[in-house]
Amino acid sequence: MTTKERSIIANPALAAEGHLKIDWVDAHMPVLNRIKEQFVKEQPFKGLKVSISLHLEAKTAYLAKVIQAGGAEVTITGSNPLSTQDDVCAALVEDGITVYAKYKPSPEEYKSFLIKALETEPDLIIDDGCELVTLLHTERPDLLKTIRGGAEETTTGIIRLKALEKEGSLKIPMIAVNDAYCKYLFDNRYGTGQSVFDSINRTTNLVVAGKTVVVVGYGWCGKGVAMRAKGLGANVIVTEVDAIKGVEAYMDGFAIMPMAEAAKRGDLFVTVTGNKSVIRGEHYEVMKDGALLANAGHFDVEVNKPELLAQSVSKRTVRNNIEEYKLKDGRKLYLLAEGRLVNLGAGDGHPAEIMDMTFALQAMSLKYVNEQYKAIGNRVLTVPYELDEQVARFKLESLGTSVDTLSEEQKAYLQSWQ
Ligand code: ADE
Repeated sequence: MTTKERSIIANPALAAEGHLKIDWVDAHMPVLNRIKEQFVKEQPFKGLKVSISLHLEAKTAYLAKVIQAGGAEVTITGSNPLSTQDDVCAALVEDGITVYAKYKPSPEEYKSFLIKALETEPDLIIDDGCELVTLLHTERPDLLKTIRGGAEETTTGIIRLKALEKEGSLKIPMIAVNDAYCKYLFDNRYGTGQSVFDSINRTTNLVVAGKTVVVVGYGWCGKGVAMRAKGLGANVIVTEVDAIKGVEAYMDGFAIMPMAEAAKRGDLFVTVTGNKSVIRGEHYEVMKDGALLANAGHFDVEVNKPELLAQSVSKRTVRNNIEEYKLKDGRKLYLLAEGRLVNLGAGDGHPAEIMDMTFALQAMSLKYVNEQYKAIGNRVLTVPYELDEQVARFKLESLGTSVDTLSEEQKAYLQSWQ
């Protein structure tokens, strides 16, 4: 069967638009381009099968093409029902990549696509939110046998992987791309900060200046969202469960308070915790009429949707990606992108120059796992510092600059205790 015959996508006729999108990001991803050049020469994945589950938009498509250029037979599926872009899928199929994905699949279809990506019996996987790994460790352990290892993209996925590892149940080596400096310092902070407001602004067409924005969670993503909200002129409140992060938010100039209080004050809420039900029934009861609710965490569990629905007398779509929930007392709350990752469900994800570093790390990490999987064993591995630093060096070079180098005298000084 050819790639075209195998693939399941919405509309092959959209390929031309998809190619334009991929060409645009390719032109803005110089670090990944350098890795592609290396891969073309070295063929690190020659004869191997790689299955990927990531948000299937243009930057991800370009990563898939880089891995293909390194010799792999690539299969790809989405990692969120709303983030797949059908034109991008069509272009990838034309480029010889097997795609199982479409925008807004049913829950059954979504899962079947993940399984199909695993049924290709890959040697290596790239996962986002531990979707593939969870299936491999629950319903389909039979498909573990060919897998040498993989790389995980996001905070939520790494929390799950570490839980599996702690329990002694992890069956493959997985490299934690999210924990690399060149991931969380830039992607989680500047990527999320910008893409969250890009998507909220285009979805709502409302002003941010003067509004009270409540940022729920002050990890690297929350820091980025709070920083950009402030830059847009909002009054920013942060809620946290970690006292140290709470002090950090306070020192960064934000108001810090419990959600019970913040719920009464916010005009726009952005959840970025990785946890569930951080906005829930008791909070809806006290929110202002017209409050906007957006989630930027991996799963659609941060804003408790069943409780919101139960407290509502009606629900309707009032604008693309905005659902109005009318509460029993007449107040209306607006949920963006069905409570799914707003920056990908109602936008194009992080900027290309940011994903350039993240996906350079993904590509290099996958190569590393392939070379070292026997030595790594079944555990969660941090991206080696040399790879992380190389991505930063390539990034600086692409900007036409560099950092200084220590002299021998300086190195000796730093190593001596006298
Ligand atoms: N584009 C592709 N993957 C993404 C991610 N994990 N976050 C933001 N934008 C993305």
